[in-house]
Amino acid sequence: MVRLITRKEVEKHKNGWIIIHNSVYDMSKFIPEHPGGEEVLLELEGFDATEGFEDAGHTPDARGILAKLKVGELEKTEHTEFEAKTEDWLVYTPDPKEEEPPASENSLTVPIIIGLVAILICFFYYYYFV
Ligand code: HEM
Repeated sequence: MVRLITRKEVEKHKNGWIIIHNSVYDMSKFIPEHPGGEEVLLELEGFDATEGFEDAGHTPDARGILAKLKVGELEKTEHTEFEAKTEDWLVYTPDPKEEEPPASENSLTVPIIIGLVAILICFFYYYYFV
């Protein structure tokens, strides 16, 4: 289960937490290894670093490291949608469950298939036996 965190909590935590694309990461162990230097990360501790992270043009490797540092997600009410500035920007994708069509749209599929199968059976019966 995903841990939900507020921006205030991230700010209070300060020892290495950072927000990128509405997810919270604990970069404390990674700070000394950062190829872009410790300073940039230390300045952003406790804050939203989405724009800085994306503007630096991080590679998929960096995104892979980032994924391993995830500790949770921001509360939905505190989400910020960023407009992608370049194609590399990892555009925020909503939870796939939210994109599922409502059950009422799905519920027609099964009766339609049953209806089509019944029509086919009638057609073959009429063609071969009548
Ligand atoms: C926990 C978050 C971060 C991770 C895991 C991370 C990881 C990395 C990695 C692996 C590289 C090497 C190049 C690459 O593979 O893209 C890199 C480079 C760099 N990063 Fe980050 N980074 C993070 C956050 C940030 C932030 C917030 C900024 C700026 C606000 C930043 C600025 C840079 C810069 C400027 C470089 C380029 C260094 C160079 O090529 O000389 N990084 N980062």
